[in-house]
Amino acid sequence: MRKQGEYSTRKAPMRQFRIDVIGALLVGAALLGLVACDGEGLTDQAPDDLAQGREIFRFDTFGDETFWTDTLRIHEVIQAAVSPQTALGIGLKVDADALPAGTLENADLNDPATTVALLKLNAVVGLKGTVETVNGSDVLTRVGITCALCHSTVDNRVAPGIGSRLDGWPNLQLNSGAIIALSPALTPTQKAVYNSWGPGKYDARFNFDGQNDPAVIPPAYGLAGVNSVTFTGDGDRPAYWNRYVAVTQMHGHGSFFESRLSISVNNPPDVVEEKLAALEAYQLSLTTPAPPAGSFDVAAAVRGESVFEGQGQCATCHTGATFTDANVRLHQPSDVPTDPTHAQRSATGMYRTTPLRALWQHPPYFHDGSAATLADVVERYNAASALGLTPLQKADLVEYLKSI
Ligand code: HEC
Ligand code: HEC
Repeated sequence: MRKQGEYSTRKAPMRQFRIDVIGALLVGAALLGLVACDGEGLTDQAPDDLAQGREIFRFDTFGDETFWTDTLRIHEVIQAAVSPQTALGIGLKVDADALPAGTLENADLNDPATTVALLKLNAVVGLKGTVETVNGSDVLTRVGITCALCHSTVDNRVAPGIGSRLDGWPNLQLNSGAIIALSPALTPTQKAVYNSWGPGKYDARFNFDGQNDPAVIPPAYGLAGVNSVTFTGDGDRPAYWNRYVAVTQMHGHGSFFESRLSISVNNPPDVVEEKLAALEAYQLSLTTPAPPAGSFDVAAAVRGESVFEGQGQCATCHTGATFTDANVRLHQPSDVPTDPTHAQRSATGMYRTTPLRALWQHPPYFHDGSAATLADVVERYNAASALGLTPLQKADLVEYLKSI
């Protein structure tokens, strides 16, 4: 396991300078075609494991086509009505690196047949299609989803929504509820719930408890050294949650048992178990992206760090290199200025102090996205804990948070 301090220190502005230089070198190398621009950077895992884990993360459906195709019949809707423009409009991303030169220039982005062609090229991030030739034309016969659907985006280098993959970056444009609601197999009541979620959110409990309380899709990077996953710390390691999602949400083939929530799902044959180790290794290799150069005021951030550690009391919970005390404790919902519902629905009933990672990259904040900006976050804590921060202290704290 990589030492935490190697990728993140509490002196974020200083770390920033170092990473900027490394980042510039990496960008230079990528331009020369020396490295793939895909976000992983660690070398102390067996390379085979990481390559295999990346393959699983990006492309493995765990056989969930039996749900997305046989039950929800999403393939029919895509074939008939989802043009690339529609797909991009609900937040799906296109992997430009999977496209032969000239593909987009010559394509009709308003034609669902182009979406089928993109799926045939395996170029729609997080969707895995099987395209067969029937009577001379391409027909989408199977479709399933992968982890990358929610936890990858692209760098928009070709056009908005079309670019190189950024694994681990949450897809906050993805309207997962609207995608599920495309299914002709759902009732109007179910569709209304799915359509209410909006971009960047997903409810991983709705199919068990029927409550409509979606969470923001979190980053899957920057979790090395954090022995607690999900907003509510339900498991010690990503593998716990990966099994939960793969089996109970993606509807892949495997089993998941959770006595704390009386959940028992068995969907044989198990193709999840054998993949969990490599998948977890890959996730833990995904490092936190550094803030873009010039995206925060360095002097203010240095002052803001003092507020974070002093009068703001932030560091009492957001401790150490990973900015969390999650390895030693969880918190009662009443400890934080957010809605308690999500914790109450979880296995722990508590909230995990969110490890602060690339906050610049993934607004909105808190589990339910109830703070649109970092200024809103600071304002919330300032009021709830009567911190008495001055306008300048609040502004400095925001600059510091942007640097993390
Ligand atoms: C449909 C969208 C979706 C898919 C597909 C999905 N996830 Fe997630 N993921 C979420 C949401 C939402 C959460 C937050 C859940 C919570 O805390 O209540 C989450 C949480 C996580 C976390 C915890 C992050 C943290 O900060 O602790 C990890 C790790 C993760 N997912 C990895 C994966 C992997 C690996 C897969 C594929 C097996 C996957 N996810 C598939 C939406 C998704
Ligand atoms: C009592 C412990 C505690 C203290 C003190 C605390 N936090 Fe938090 N923080 C949490 C918990 C728990 C969450 C997750 C709450 C949720 O998502 O509902 C959180 C979430 C956040 C988030 C959202 C991260 C994301 O990715 O969505 C930010 C930003 C944040 N805190 C910043 C701060 C700042 C700034 C301070 C000081 C003013 C502070 N916190 C003080 C425990 C704490």
